[in-house]
Amino acid sequence: MTAFELNGELVQASADHPHLLAALRDELGVLSPKDGCSPSGQCGCCTVLLDGKARIACQTAMDKAEGATVTTLEGLDGAERDRYASAFAAHGALQCGFCTPGIVMRAKALLDKKGDALTRDDASRHLGAHLCRCTGYVKILDAVESLASGEVPVALPLGGLGTSGTKYEACELSLGDRPFIDDLAPKGMLHGALRLADHARADVVRIDTSAAAAVDGVEAVFTAADVPGELRVGLIHVDWPVFILRAARAVQRPGRGRGVGRGRRLGTGRQRAVGLRLRPG
Ligand code: FES
Ligand code: FES
Repeated sequence: MTAFELNGELVQASADHPHLLAALRDELGVLSPKDGCSPSGQCGCCTVLLDGKARIACQTAMDKAEGATVTTLEGLDGAERDRYASAFAAHGALQCGFCTPGIVMRAKALLDKKGDALTRDDASRHLGAHLCRCTGYVKILDAVESLASGEVPVALPLGGLGTSGTKYEACELSLGDRPFIDDLAPKGMLHGALRLADHARADVVRIDTSAAAAVDGVEAVFTAADVPGELRVGLIHVDWPVFILRAARAVQRPGRGRGVGRGRRLGTGRQRAVGLRLRPG
């Protein structure tokens, strides 16, 4: 087990998690750090504070968390949460909001360190660790600048047609409280994972699902043989294979078997047990 302080409470989590993000989300139920790319460490959505410094949780090994202090948005006091939520919401510093909790934690680390001396340029340099695919960074920097100056605007509710207002659920999204699909875990939910082919262009000679089906926690493995009806989908031309058929040619669209089973991390390796025999093309 790995023991650390999480948001002011001593907790323990399995040391077997591939990284701190998995322990937070899958075992400890802390969902404000989002999983955009784990374990790649590229998007910044999973940023938390580790001993007061902004850290990418999906790149933090469990032994690094041992004895550390971990802070997420859930652990900030109410007034501080309101301040961050208002700044981001009032400045329109989010659209889908998936990247926002990570950016807010980065902003907190910077503001804790520099306070009102934090400049827009400083903040801008540090935002390089975060990918935002829909808002852009100007409004995010506006929000951080207002937090540094202490002049945080009030996020006004929507006032109807012809008036400006704050984006729907902007405060909840900023704080990571509004759940995304990956945050939902109804009882008994199964997780699916794709088995991608090892070559982008290949003939699929054989698919053997027996080893994958026997893996503990796997409920079912599906291949093209399990799909009734048309095996192709598409937006303009119906030419995308749902699954690769045996002996079909995979061109830039790797062949797939799909495993469905218990455990969120099914996708991190068990689907490799689907045996694909390929002849590279
Ligand atoms: S989920 Fe950790 S950096 Fe993307
Ligand atoms: S608000 Fe959508 S990715 Fe940043």
